[in-house]
Amino acid sequence: MNKKICIVILAAGKGTRLGVETPKPLVSFQHTNLIHQVITEIIKLKNHAQIKLSIILGHQKEMIQDYLNKNFDDLNLEYIYQEKQLGTGHAVSEFINQTKFDSDEVMILCADTPLITKNALMSLIDFKNNSNLNACGLSFIANNPHGYGRIKRVSSDKGISIIEEKDASAEDKKINEVNSGIYLVDQSYLKEKIGKLDNKNKSGEFYLTDIMGLKDSCDFITVDDGENIFLGVNTMTQLEQAEQLARKKMCEQFQESGVCIIDSNTTYIDNDVKIEPGVKIMPNVHLRGKTTIKKNSCIETGCVISNTIIGEDVTILPYTVLEDSLIFNGASIGPFARIRPGSQIGEECKVGNFVETKKSILKAGSKVSHLSYVGDAEIGQKTNIGCGFITCNYDGKNKHQTIIGENCFIGSDSQMIAPVNIGDNCFVASGSTISSNLNDGDFAISRSRQVTKEGMAKRFLKK
Ligand code: UD1
Ligand code: CA
Repeated sequence: MNKKICIVILAAGKGTRLGVETPKPLVSFQHTNLIHQVITEIIKLKNHAQIKLSIILGHQKEMIQDYLNKNFDDLNLEYIYQEKQLGTGHAVSEFINQTKFDSDEVMILCADTPLITKNALMSLIDFKNNSNLNACGLSFIANNPHGYGRIKRVSSDKGISIIEEKDASAEDKKINEVNSGIYLVDQSYLKEKIGKLDNKNKSGEFYLTDIMGLKDSCDFITVDDGENIFLGVNTMTQLEQAEQLARKKMCEQFQESGVCIIDSNTTYIDNDVKIEPGVKIMPNVHLRGKTTIKKNSCIETGCVISNTIIGEDVTILPYTVLEDSLIFNGASIGPFARIRPGSQIGEECKVGNFVETKKSILKAGSKVSHLSYVGDAEIGQKTNIGCGFITCNYDGKNKHQTIIGENCFIGSDSQMIAPVNIGDNCFVASGSTISSNLNDGDFAISRSRQVTKEGMAKRFLKK
């Protein structure tokens, strides 16, 4: 039978070592924040255990609570207040005093370990289930144990002592088995031990770690690769390390499915992004929101793509920004193009350098190759728009539509003063300002006739 587990997240601390005003649980991490990431992973345990979630808040509690209520209102979270932050042991004693939840076991973890995995938490549950222990913890072997509690296995009644950095002797500091800060404890055992903690240590805090270690009641299981799973974010450097690890993990998942990512250190992919096998992603690319990229497309360096669906065999050339748009098969966009919300770039279309589109539909095979603004427009199939074309879509009050038919040739440096409607097979001469509609097959030119005065240039040129 599944036991009832109450999961307690410690999130009351000040996070002084980060040096920012934002409370540590809300410090931005991987497009959300630290505590969001922790909760997202914990929720995955739901299929394996009956869980309830309790959050211990103190420093800036209103702000964190508001965030959690907005983002996890379906979880029925319990909030416990720790008014004075007297240590992790004190935080858990506040939980014991205030909780309304009744459970067999309590899992305790910290809001500042954003890389935890469901599998690691499952290994803790399994480890305890298969033992007669009252309290189990997860430990790992750290190349750099600095800052973590060292797991000192001693041969006395207290089978294990956890020694915090501040209290560690030079000898203790060499121990590289460290405490992840994640424990699973019988609720009855926790109740019995938590009141007995003292704060006789260098920090003057009540350490939760002091309840762990009694021989025959407590033990730690070491998790492989734990340094990458339990990284605790106390400093900005650790935040960067955690971001890098998360990015790498995300990229590896895509790489395993056949996506070619050239440099995972500089590839930023949001959780909801979908990428099909055969896609190639060059360095320094950001894929955000609900972006989808279909097979054999290539995203070249420096592109930032948000909420956009990109079809098959599409090429997005360097430094192109796409937002809330649809790109159909075989299109090519950029370099240095900006595709703003509501754009649809049709099959085999070409959008070239320094082109901006907004709320515009380019139908199959049309081309806007250089230096243009296409806003609130519809451009028909196989129409070619020359260099420096502008839709004058805004009259100072309202936006208006420009409709251009298929197989048109729109000469360079022309403008369309919207609303305006151009039929199919039209030809607009270069440098024209078009303000009236054209019927199918019309030719339009609207520019002043050239005046040439022979030999007169010298009047204007400096000697
Ligand atoms: C803690 C552990 C350490 C472990 C490490 C793992 C203790 C004494 N030390 O150290 O053994 O290796 O985590 O990352 O437990 N908090 C409260 N109330 C308080 C104090 C802290 O809620 O009064 C919360 C913090 O907000 C944080 C968590 O507890 O989310 C851990 O506190 P932190 O100060 O980061 O502990 P570490 O020094 O990292
Ligand atoms: Ca920490």
